[in-house]
Amino acid sequence: MTQARIGLIGLGTMGAALALNIAEKGFPIAVWNRTTEVTRRFHAEAGALAERVIPTESLADLVAAIAPPRAIILMVPAGQAVDDQIAALAPLLDPEDLVIDAGNANFHDTNRRAAAGLPMRFLGMGVSGGEEGARHGPAIMGGGARADWDRVAPIMEAIAARAEDGTPCATWMGEAGAGHFVKTVHNGIEYADMQMIAEIYGLMRDGMAMPAPGIGETFATWNQGPLKSYLIEISAAVSRAADPLTGAPMLDVILDAAGQKGTGRWTAIEAQHLAAPIPVIDAAVMARNVSARVTERKAGEARFGAGPQPLDLALTELEAALIAGKILCYAQGFAMIEAAGRAFGWQLDLPGIARVWRAGCIIRSAMLNDMAAALAEDPSRNLVLAPFFAQRLEATIPALRRVVATALLNGHGVPALAAGLGWFDLMRTGRGTANMIQAQRDFFGAHGFDRLDGQDSHHGPWGKTS
Ligand code: 6PG
Repeated sequence: MTQARIGLIGLGTMGAALALNIAEKGFPIAVWNRTTEVTRRFHAEAGALAERVIPTESLADLVAAIAPPRAIILMVPAGQAVDDQIAALAPLLDPEDLVIDAGNANFHDTNRRAAAGLPMRFLGMGVSGGEEGARHGPAIMGGGARADWDRVAPIMEAIAARAEDGTPCATWMGEAGAGHFVKTVHNGIEYADMQMIAEIYGLMRDGMAMPAPGIGETFATWNQGPLKSYLIEISAAVSRAADPLTGAPMLDVILDAAGQKGTGRWTAIEAQHLAAPIPVIDAAVMARNVSARVTERKAGEARFGAGPQPLDLALTELEAALIAGKILCYAQGFAMIEAAGRAFGWQLDLPGIARVWRAGCIIRSAMLNDMAAALAEDPSRNLVLAPFFAQRLEATIPALRRVVATALLNGHGVPALAAGLGWFDLMRTGRGTANMIQAQRDFFGAHGFDRLDGQDSHHGPWGKTS
């Protein structure tokens, strides 16, 4: 067999799927897993693709099986395992060999690794789309030296999803941790999209007494309109599914406590460092944390709960509210990316990011086409001010307002939708209320303030309080 074009370490669900995808696109690939039995089974089950897969049983064999200058993808758990794997590879690799961390790394770790002067070339690459995406076409967000990305770009473009216009969803995002940063924000938006859908599901279930299959029909209908997206599509599917054990709707037997591996939290934390407001994502992370507190929530219900009350809302209003919430959330996410680009010195291409997210990834949606177009008009303008989205918001904000207000008045928690609306109302207020905060700060700390009339007087005539 010829030498492999690329290697891959870590044959877990995602690694195995990615390796088969690479082999299927015609690139011979050498693979290695810590447990040799996993490697052997993977090769044995690779079917017709097995002839393009070189199973190896030691790191040295893996390295020897790849044509130099080598490229090796790491698909191992984020964190220490990546550092350990790099250290194990270091004595075996040449300086021009390239290690690609394709896990969900914290981009600060990727920045650190990029700055550490590793004895080989290094890329950090965000990969989205779950197992199905990895196998048949993920969205790929590359980060590191451009020249290193260019070396593997033909492979990444071949295995990536393609947008409707045929463009591969695999792009270099910028230096060092830029790819993992963009993937992190993708995941923050993923949390927010999922939370807003869950809130709307809750209003239908608890406020409108709709059974799960009916909710599924509604999502399926919405998936034909502006909300068309992977997450709405799977929400329809999970709502319609029946439990094989009991025959009940699947959703009705699933515990309401959501797990998380941390990427949403990283987005929220980073946004605070950047002073970038992303309240919809913040609310989604908060709601996941609350969801996990099952016992406390039950105690809360016993003490305070009159239960959510029936709602007088139309399904068309819920759809419009979700459209508005989604636009507001993405506007925040893209503004955060813009802020990060400035803070980290990355030339992050906002329309390019929207284009990469159009297919393959978890947040893929029809709306991302319009977002790419709007961002291309002026990447530094907030998305809510792009004419296309401003008009769409004018048409949908009244529904969002009625949905949030009605939900709150009747005891339904809709923190992400409400956070979007709260932000929007601040963003459309030319004269806000922070003059009060400035006066308070000056009063207790002599922090000073600017005046509206431009006069050169920056402190108030504050007397002593009792
Ligand atoms: C993707 C996803 C994926 C993520 C899972 C679980 O883009 O394919 O974002 O990378 O790991 O969705 O994430 P949580 O466990 O944090 O929900």
